Amino acid sequence: MESTVSDARPSFPVDLEYQSGFGNSFSSEAIAGALPGNQNSPLVCPYGLYAEQISGTSFTTPRKLNQRSWLYRVKPSVTHEPFKPRIPEHERLVSEFDESNSYATPTQLRWKPVEVPVTPTDFIDGLYTVCGAGSSYLRHGFAVHMYTANKSMDNCAFCSADGDFLIVPQEGRLWITTECGRLQVSPGEIVVIPQGFRFAVDLPDGPSRGYAAEIFGTHFQLPDLGPIGANGLAASRDFLTPVAWFDHVSRPGYTIVQKFGGKLFTAKQDFSPFNVAAWHGNYVPYKYDLSKFCPYNTVLIDHADPSINTVLTAPTDRPGVALLDFVIFPPRWLVAEHTFRPPYYHRNCMSEFMGLIYGGYEAKADGFLPGGASLHSCMTPHGPDTITYEATIANGNEPGPRRISNTMAFMFESCLMPRVCPWALESPFRDHDYYQCWIGLKSHFTSPEETQLDVDGDGEVEGSR
Ligand code: FE2
Repeated sequence: MESTVSDARPSFPVDLEYQSGFGNSFSSEAIAGALPGNQNSPLVCPYGLYAEQISGTSFTTPRKLNQRSWLYRVKPSVTHEPFKPRIPEHERLVSEFDESNSYATPTQLRWKPVEVPVTPTDFIDGLYTVCGAGSSYLRHGFAVHMYTANKSMDNCAFCSADGDFLIVPQEGRLWITTECGRLQVSPGEIVVIPQGFRFAVDLPDGPSRGYAAEIFGTHFQLPDLGPIGANGLAASRDFLTPVAWFDHVSRPGYTIVQKFGGKLFTAKQDFSPFNVAAWHGNYVPYKYDLSKFCPYNTVLIDHADPSINTVLTAPTDRPGVALLDFVIFPPRWLVAEHTFRPPYYHRNCMSEFMGLIYGGYEAKADGFLPGGASLHSCMTPHGPDTITYEATIANGNEPGPRRISNTMAFMFESCLMPRVCPWALESPFRDHDYYQCWIGLKSHFTSPEETQLDVDGDGEVEGSR
């Protein structure tokens, strides 16, 4: 059954089709025979379509990293009026982080879930930058955004020239129409819309909230598995890419909203950008169901570093150093013996932004809520709160394995030091008492002398030295 979401687009069917795989050379036709068979740019394309390439890497990027797709469309993307700065200006998007728009702070930051606005707000207006580093102009950096929205985008499409969007819905499904086809993305799934792709977001469930990481100058890859072997973590076949779907009726007053250097520009055209009847290539949007993740961890002692749970990584030129890792903390078994099972206390040369999709997080007894967020920047101490530590020490580990259930936390981890946007620092949803969760950690230290003299461990000193 289909319900009406927008006058501009038909509703999504419940049984949307996808293609499976990561980094494949995909191809798809909404009309049989629409894809040219033997070349990319024939003199006349089947059905009179226009051929258009979208390049996600430079032409000369080595083959194993090269990404591009060929789109066969009713009218080419260039058919639009000039771009103009969007009015009203969107004041909460940043793609070049400096002293004029963001602040450096080593303080541990945490936010409660931001309430979804009551006034009609679509994905574009509901999107705001929380923190980030670097510059989209210089093609090196990232931004962490969040969104709260309650209204489908109407007769417009969004596009970021700045970078790839990795969107993590926390509340409300997303019906995302792209030039390659349509994706339904539910909380518990993620979607990646590569740089430059035009997309529209419908909200079939109404009030919606989520997170988005944007990366400048590179694309997400699957992490190497090293000694884990050929299988485990996120499997290629669980990544789903749309099949071609297109809209070729007249759309007077259609607006392309292009994010370019953190600013929004609009251009009018008289047709939908989702007019691609066939396409092929390896530069594509895709989604992934986090419940498919196959976690690995310790099976005897200690706590693995969180990198063991990396779903996707955006690399830098330095081996093993990520511009941005997307890491999850899914349901799993804890089995370590004589080990402090919650995450360890930590200071990190990388910076860690965390969010929670549902459930609780094992290192925080309270205060870190679904839809909330935290930021522990470069070398800022963090770790389990007082309640978690004391409960773990007092009770010890449960005998045998313990299953952590009903949880899906995640982390965006970057080698760059994020600057924080003023509206995030001044947000009424910021938890200014966050530090209090650790302040009660008390010393359990017992000096060697006390340890030796308190022979029977009853707290009383026996004898003398
Ligand atoms: Fe950490």
